[in-house]
Amino acid sequence: MKRMTRPFLAAALAAAALFSTVPAGAAGPGIGECMDCHGDKTIEKTLPNGQALSLHVDLRAYRSSVHGKDSCVTCHSDAKAPHEKLAKVVCGRCHGDAAKSYSMSSHGILRAKGVTDVPACYDCHGKHDIRRPKDPEARTFRLNIAATCLRCHKDQALEQKYNLPDQKAMVAYERSVHGMASKKAGLTGSAVCVDCHGNHEILPGDQPRSATNRQKIPTMCGKCHPGILEKYEKSVHGKGMRAGIAESPVCTDCHGEHTIARVSDPSSSVSSRNIPKTCSGCHEKESISTRYALPKNRFSSYMDSFHGIALEYGMTKVANCASCHGVHDILPASDPASTVNKANLPKTCGKCHPNAGPNFAKGDVHVEVSPGKAMGVFAVRLFYTIFISALVILFVLHVGLELYGRWNRRKENGTGGKEGRS
Ligand code: HEC
Ligand code: HEC
Ligand code: HEC
Ligand code: HEC
Ligand code: HEC
Ligand code: HEC
Ligand code: HEC
Ligand code: HEC
Ligand code: HEC
Ligand code: HEC
Ligand code: HEC
Repeated sequence: MKRMTRPFLAAALAAAALFSTVPAGAAGPGIGECMDCHGDKTIEKTLPNGQALSLHVDLRAYRSSVHGKDSCVTCHSDAKAPHEKLAKVVCGRCHGDAAKSYSMSSHGILRAKGVTDVPACYDCHGKHDIRRPKDPEARTFRLNIAATCLRCHKDQALEQKYNLPDQKAMVAYERSVHGMASKKAGLTGSAVCVDCHGNHEILPGDQPRSATNRQKIPTMCGKCHPGILEKYEKSVHGKGMRAGIAESPVCTDCHGEHTIARVSDPSSSVSSRNIPKTCSGCHEKESISTRYALPKNRFSSYMDSFHGIALEYGMTKVANCASCHGVHDILPASDPASTVNKANLPKTCGKCHPNAGPNFAKGDVHVEVSPGKAMGVFAVRLFYTIFISALVILFVLHVGLELYGRWNRRKENGTGGKEGRS
């Protein structure tokens, strides 16, 4: 009988609490009655694991929290003053949508199984000091979110236990263009964890529903980079991705995820020096070229061209893949709108070679070096190989002779030197 009435009582109390926000203390105990004991700074209890849990509630923080006008029984619906063991607070009673999304997340699924390594609502929001996400003091305020998540996601023990990405990936976010923009520059428009992962329904990227699932990445990044998304969608890569070609690149294949850096940063995967490597991750792969009938060896044929050799020697002004093909608007050469379509080459090359006429652009830019295919380059290469080798040999010879000469002179002067000093 008693078992039957308890839930009813709780429900009644809850309902009373909900509708009693205006007439203070109309039902159940008021804040003051609870604070008689819980206002005491020293009040604590010992947890089963032996640790002490403070039972003190900071009334000032509570008053300025979003629930601060309500009595304690709003959440602790079964509490009386004094009371016995209380039930766990269920935020979802009032926040159904958040609770539903959360229950489907990696965090919520494990929490429901009793795992406390994953966050409950209050690990991200707080208990008695919950503030609105737009309040700069809230744990969930945009500029504070990374710290809220990283409290766990930089923890090495959790990383190992749950096979999460290693520390480097997490530290990398803080150093990325997005992390720096929010942490150092205080820019609220930059990307924080929840912009990419969602806040409540967080799932690993390999699940179709996840916000970071491959298929969703372009639109996810495009929320804040809409101009780029528009171009990308019309490109061969964007169309390929839409058509379900798994190897067609999405934003993160070229830019990284937590490591995204400014283009001008030399360590960026898309800095002028690194672009050939980034594109070639796919375009040098035999399997991809064969499957999609693409021309092969794009990297080696570029690296053997004048541009590639110059880039390797640090000349970043020289053409890289993107200078000729474009970036987010790459199209097949056969497409009349492509920057590398025959008709457009004088213009494309003309950006850097102002005097380039139609003939200039005729030369091969992807050079497969062999006497048959590119005699000119082959000859120049051969010449340079012989020339430079000869130069190196002569130089070494020169230094060798010089050293030998010095050694000889020293030997001669050896006795003379001693005499001179005495
Ligand atoms: C007479 C002092 C007293 C009053 C009044 C009091 N509490 Fe407590 N409260 C305690 C003590 C002692 C504990 C620790 C109980 C234990 O060891 O489990 C506690 C524990 C709690 C806990 C921790 C959960 C649990 O069951 O261990 C909550 C929540 C709580 N009180 C809420 C309230 C609320 C809400 C009120 C007002 C309606 C209130 N208390 C009034 C003394 C009091
Ligand atoms: C917005 C909901 C909410 C309100 C309102 C609220 N609490 Fe809590 N309280 C929690 C949550 C969540 C916990 C964590 C334990 C749990 O889930 O039951 C908690 C835990 C506690 C504890 C145990 C110590 C701890 O920090 O875990 C005490 C004591 C307590 N509350 C007292 C109070 C008092 C006193 C008031 C009113 C001044 C109050 N609570 C109002 C949500 C609330
Ligand atoms: C009894 C119902 C109730 C419970 C239980 C409750 N809340 Fe609330 N909460 C509200 C109401 C009502 C508001 C809106 C206050 C307003 O808009 O003035 C609110 C506001 C919020 C906000 C700010 C929302 C916004 O849009 O700015 C957050 C965050 C929040 N609650 C989190 C929690 C968490 C976390 C818990 C559990 C620890 C919890 N709430 C428990 C009723 C509740
Ligand atoms: C992993 C951290 C995390 C957990 C766990 C979490 N939240 Fe949130 N929640 C956030 C963040 C961050 C925001 C701010 C929204 C944003 O900027 O995207 C938020 C926003 C909210 C809001 C404001 C309205 C909205 O939906 O945006 C409410 C209400 C809320 N959470 C309630 C809850 C409740 C209830 C739970 C537990 C069932 C919970 N949250 C669990 C991080 C979390
Ligand atoms: C209280 C600690 C804690 C907090 C706070 C926390 N997480 Fe987690 N998170 C975990 C643990 C533990 C797992 C592993 C769960 C699993 O393996 O299913 C996890 C899983 C994840 C996953 C999915 C990984 C996977 O393979 O399942 C993502 C993504 C994630 N968290 C992002 C976030 C974000 C974003 C925030 C902040 C809004 C956050 N977490 C806050 C502990 C936390
Ligand atoms: C610019 C978007 C973006 C931001 C900001 C971001 N992430 Fe990620 N994160 C991703 C993507 C994309 C993946 C890879 C998803 C995949 O392919 O599995 C990922 C992977 C993860 C994983 C591994 C789980 C998985 O899905 O493979 C965790 C955990 C994680 N991120 C946590 C965080 C935390 C914590 C923050 C904030 C400190 C954060 N992320 C910031 C986009 C982002
Ligand atoms: C095929 C590789 C690739 C893909 C896919 C890609 N990018 Fe880029 N992105 C680049 C390169 C290369 C640059 C550097 C261009 C330059 O040198 O100015 C760049 C530059 C940028 C910039 C800097 C601003 C600018 O235009 O110079 C932003 C922002 C950006 N990309 C966002 C995105 C987003 C969002 C997506 C997905 C919709 C995306 N990128 C997809 C390769 C790529
Ligand atoms: C919430 C909005 C937001 C989201 C989501 C977002 N970004 Fe950004 N991103 C920004 C802002 C703002 C900056 C500029 C930061 C600065 O200038 O300090 C930026 C900068 C960049 C840059 C550097 C541009 C440069 O100047 O060189 C790149 C590259 C970039 N984002 C790529 C991405 C990719 C890829 C994704 C998706 C995985 C993404 N962004 C998701 C807001 C966002
Ligand atoms: C993740 C792998 C990947 C990356 C990285 C990548 N591509 Fe591609 N690319 C592809 C695939 C797959 C296709 C074929 C798509 C299709 O046919 O729909 C393609 C098509 C192309 C085409 C059109 C070829 C044709 O004949 O249709 C060009 C040009 C191209 N890519 C240039 C580049 C450049 C330049 C970069 C670097 C800025 C780059 N790609 C980065 C996978 C990639
Ligand atoms: C100096 C300009 C230039 C540079 C630099 C360049 N390309 Fe090209 N690329 C072209 C031209 C012109 C064509 C079409 C004619 C041909 O195949 O030689 C082409 C053809 C291609 C094709 C086949 C496209 C199709 O539709 O048939 C791919 C793929 C490609 N390049 C990838 C790359 C990659 C990857 C890099 C960097 C490692 C790169 N290109 C560097 C100008 C350039
Ligand atoms: C981003 C700028 C840029 C673009 C675009 C570009 N080049 Fe170049 N190219 C250079 C630079 C810099 C050099 C080395 C300096 C020089 O001699 O002008 C160079 C050198 C060359 C050379 C070797 C010797 C010479 O100076 O004549 C040839 C041939 C050449 N480019 C052909 C092309 C062709 C064909 C295209 C168009 C398909 C093209 N380039 C597009 C920057 C570019």
